[in-house]
Amino acid sequence: MTYKKVPVTVARGDGIGPEIMDATMRIIEAAGAQLAPEYVNVGQKVYEGGNSIGIEDAAWESLTRTGLFLKAPITTPQGGGYKSVNVTLRKAFGLYSNVRPVQTYQPFVQSKHQNIDMVIVRENEEDLYAGMEYRQTHDTCHSIKYISRPGSEMIIRYAFEYARANGRKKVSCLIKDNIMKISDGLFHNVFKLVAKEFPEIQAESYIVDIGMALVADKPERFDVIVTQNLYGDIVSDIASQIAGSVGLAGSFNIGEKCAMFEAVHGSAPDIAGKGIANPSGLLNAAILMLHHIGQNDVAVKVQNAWLRTLEDGVHTGDIAADKSKAVGTAAFADAVIARLGQEPQKLRAAKPGDFKPMSMPDFGKVTVSKRTKRLAGVDIFVNSKQAAEAIGPQFENAAATGLKLKVVANRGMKVYPNPEGHVRTSDLFVGRYVGENGNLSDAQVNVTLANLSQQGLEWVRIEKLYTFDNERAFSLFQGE
Ligand code: NAI
Ligand code: MG
Repeated sequence: MTYKKVPVTVARGDGIGPEIMDATMRIIEAAGAQLAPEYVNVGQKVYEGGNSIGIEDAAWESLTRTGLFLKAPITTPQGGGYKSVNVTLRKAFGLYSNVRPVQTYQPFVQSKHQNIDMVIVRENEEDLYAGMEYRQTHDTCHSIKYISRPGSEMIIRYAFEYARANGRKKVSCLIKDNIMKISDGLFHNVFKLVAKEFPEIQAESYIVDIGMALVADKPERFDVIVTQNLYGDIVSDIASQIAGSVGLAGSFNIGEKCAMFEAVHGSAPDIAGKGIANPSGLLNAAILMLHHIGQNDVAVKVQNAWLRTLEDGVHTGDIAADKSKAVGTAAFADAVIARLGQEPQKLRAAKPGDFKPMSMPDFGKVTVSKRTKRLAGVDIFVNSKQAAEAIGPQFENAAATGLKLKVVANRGMKVYPNPEGHVRTSDLFVGRYVGENGNLSDAQVNVTLANLSQQGLEWVRIEKLYTFDNERAFSLFQGE
């Protein structure tokens, strides 16, 4: 087939990024990929050059135009420094779905498992990765777990549509709604609702801790997994590691107008510049990209040559059984190029028909919740080092007319009135107020805040408490 050249934005990234990108581009171009690459810079160097988001203007311009991104891993500092460029890109381009296929290549790549063939569909924009973190007292900080109904519905629909298009039999949902009854409960409810529209696909749910343990122990039983951002990040690394190496898995991030293809692993600074990194993760991402743009026969040619290379025992250090025979990144790429046109002999060869284009879920179908919302109370957070018995009455005194203090809590546990046990307290107390006749107004909340300030108490945060159709939509404190 002859194809028109497709413009694609390419970033060589940080750490091992340039090495594996160069290897990947060399392979796919040798295979006949028709691409018009536009090289841009994102990541560490851009940030260090004074661009606080780590994405140069030319990269925004190119991406907005091409809607197609092949990206090498980039370095994100831990514990401080600039925000993750990856997360910014996912959000700025609406890449709500992160899809990570994981497979074993037995007996050519060592794994304790025989037949892993699963696809992890990870929500990509919300959850703790919304990046809303606060420290408002000396001793405490908190991070907001943001879960939306439309966001959950999009990713869950995507997972089921993906399963349907690809002939997959089962979708497993991982959640922790025994603890996070409201946020994970919402995700789980949406899962159960959407599953009904796909009766031919088996739907099951696991509490995330045992679910992940099963992924590690019995991965063969999983087909498609759909989960929130953080759980998905963890479970996809577990899955790719037990399949053989984090260096093998490719992934894509997809939205309505843009798609970004990348390896699952990071920039591996520990081996950067040594020429030993495995380019397979990025190469597998590039194969997915070639399918995405309809160059399926090129994708298949690259995949089969790559499989044949693995079968022939040409391995980089991360997967080589005999480390002394390991080849470097460039030699591995040469070996794949030399096998273009060949097929694997034992592993299943890829066929052009393997890839089924799927329809993207329709945002218009996302259901809108139309329940009656009512203000039921307010939680006011106060920074104080006092003991619970001392601060409790001050919270009580601050209540505006018509409001009453229901409870004071610390670290999620009731500490006033009538605390049970011996609760250790931090310097962040929360007073929960409700209306004496069941109603309360903003004016009463404002008066209560002013009263607290007047008593010398520093309030740092408030949370309004609501009911929806009279159903409580806030958590109770332990002991409340
Ligand atoms: P990592 O995936 O970079 O490395 C984990 C381990 O796997 C290291 O021992 C590394 O040498 C090895 N490894 C990874 N890829 C390999 C490959 N292709 N060939 C051979 N060995 C490989 O994870 P880590 O160390 O937690 O993160 C390093 C940096 O990468 C951090 O700054 C992190 O934020 C960033 N990162 C970026 C991602 C992206 O751009 N999409 C994804 C994950 C992490
Ligand atoms: Mg990760």
